[in-house]
Amino acid sequence: MCGIVGYVGAEDAKEILLRGLEKLEYRGYDSAGLAIANDQGVHVYKEKGRIATLREAVNQTEAGTVGIGHTRWATHGAPSKLNAHPHQTARYTIVHNGVIENYEQVRREYLPDVEMTSDTDTEIIVQLVEKFASDGETTEVAFRHALSLLKGSYATALLDLEDPETIYVGKNKSPLLIGLSDGVNVVASDAMAMLQVTKEFVEIMDEEIVIVTKDNVTIKKMTGDVVTRDSYVAEIDSSDIEKGTYPHYMLKEIDEQPFVIRNIVTKYKDEDDSIKLDDNVRQAVLGADRIYIIAAGTSYHAGLVGKEMIEKIAHIPVETHIASEFLYNMPILSKKPLFIFISQSGETADSRGVLVNVKKLGHQTLTITNVPGSTLSREAQFTLHTHAGPEIAVASTKAYTAQMAVLVILAVDAARASGLEMDFDPLQELGIVANAMEIFTEKKDVLEEIARDYLSVTRNCFFIGRSMDYHVCMEGSLKLKEISYIQAEGFAGGELKHGTIALIEEGTPVIGLATQENVHLNLRGNMKEVVARGAYPCMISMDGFQEEDDKIVIPKVHNYLTPLVSVIPLQLIAYYAALHRGCDVDKPRNLAKSVTVE
Ligand code: M6R
Repeated sequence: MCGIVGYVGAEDAKEILLRGLEKLEYRGYDSAGLAIANDQGVHVYKEKGRIATLREAVNQTEAGTVGIGHTRWATHGAPSKLNAHPHQTARYTIVHNGVIENYEQVRREYLPDVEMTSDTDTEIIVQLVEKFASDGETTEVAFRHALSLLKGSYATALLDLEDPETIYVGKNKSPLLIGLSDGVNVVASDAMAMLQVTKEFVEIMDEEIVIVTKDNVTIKKMTGDVVTRDSYVAEIDSSDIEKGTYPHYMLKEIDEQPFVIRNIVTKYKDEDDSIKLDDNVRQAVLGADRIYIIAAGTSYHAGLVGKEMIEKIAHIPVETHIASEFLYNMPILSKKPLFIFISQSGETADSRGVLVNVKKLGHQTLTITNVPGSTLSREAQFTLHTHAGPEIAVASTKAYTAQMAVLVILAVDAARASGLEMDFDPLQELGIVANAMEIFTEKKDVLEEIARDYLSVTRNCFFIGRSMDYHVCMEGSLKLKEISYIQAEGFAGGELKHGTIALIEEGTPVIGLATQENVHLNLRGNMKEVVARGAYPCMISMDGFQEEDDKIVIPKVHNYLTPLVSVIPLQLIAYYAALHRGCDVDKPRNLAKSVTVE
């Protein structure tokens, strides 16, 4: 979702800010803007649409060594140049991520006579600072005063025309980092945006403000008390976030999956080849009478598979919940629950909302994430890292398979620690999975052809499977709809005939997944039901269960791990379908990579 960058140093800030905004493009946005401060004033440029449009609009001769930039994903007010950030008053200029829930109320109470120039919730922040400063408060005090009135989430950066060498930064619930360097300091929603300047970052906690100049970074609480905090070195390299020779990040990330799985095996293996896991995490799992997995989207689908893995392998009851539902409709909890939050970004607001609530209830919390320094990671008691490397494409691929790999390791570790008999070595079996994944690198032409044949002109598509395959079908359908805009549904094979089969007509594509030993024949029966009603079937099975007309046969892997492999043809079919239909694969419409608002 929205992204923020800021720069205060010695070079002209424009190019650094534009490059930073380009690195944040993957998060999703619909407009962008920046402000450059110099002796002549604060110059604002903003445009609806891509950064490339903003780049053209920026006056390249207008130099300044301080600036802030923003990508906006509209929440309040349509995507437009008017609503794009920065927003300005006579003296102040602001960019903001997040949602101010009480902005109407604050506006009525504090700014009744101020005419707003945009439809955004953001504008009240800058208007409040202007008001408090004109009442005689210093900028810092006015900024803290304004932020203290807000309910909701914000990461925000402010420039003061009368002190153009300083960026004032505030944070609550939305991610924000300060990057440190020699005579240069930067602000970013995501370290990736500012790896061009530094790898050294300092985290900002909720309800803190930061005063950033080129030589100083001062963190303060809302009370004005100074906070000291160590910096850390970001463990990513700028080359990790380049596409290289790939046409799209999504394709690169699909291809990276065998490497990611091998990397996870290495990270979770100790010297004697057994599982390496923090003993506190083990005890938290063993101490739970029920596990609640909380997640959204693709991570939720990994959680559905995780439930099966943990219940079958470790014999611990598990419920998997959609975060945004759980947040306002919490079921009756068991006596000793453990909450596992699965999130690629570690920033998903719905999941974070649940985390905040269950922490207040005193429950144990574990985050499985690809971004260890993220909000969900910091705020949960324990973190397991998925080690997938930065995932840039909006459509999640390698993060999903990595999440499931970590879940199976967690399940087996718990099973072993509780003395259950096991003839399943997850580290070895994951090695087999990595090899099986690799064959799809060679089969791209087959999958491209399937996408062309089945999905070039259709308006809908069904995915059916049973048991674990059903969960993978949900993921396959999400991939297809989010990037190709084909209406797609993942269904339990046996459920279609209870209503949805009415939608099957001559030529409707139905992709069937049959990798599960105990139900693959039932699924073939369900496929026959739809074929009898005119469906155009595409069967994906596993070695050992294949039949003559199957379009794809995945190599044999352990029954618990089939989702890690069977999802890959579905990811590639979605990729090629989107490509054939001329869609923007890496940046699908209306979507954001990191969903930091509820
Ligand atoms: O960062 P998270 O894993 O918490 O994100 C959750 C969903 O927004 C995400 O998985 C989304 O569904 C994917 N973009 C789908 O490909």
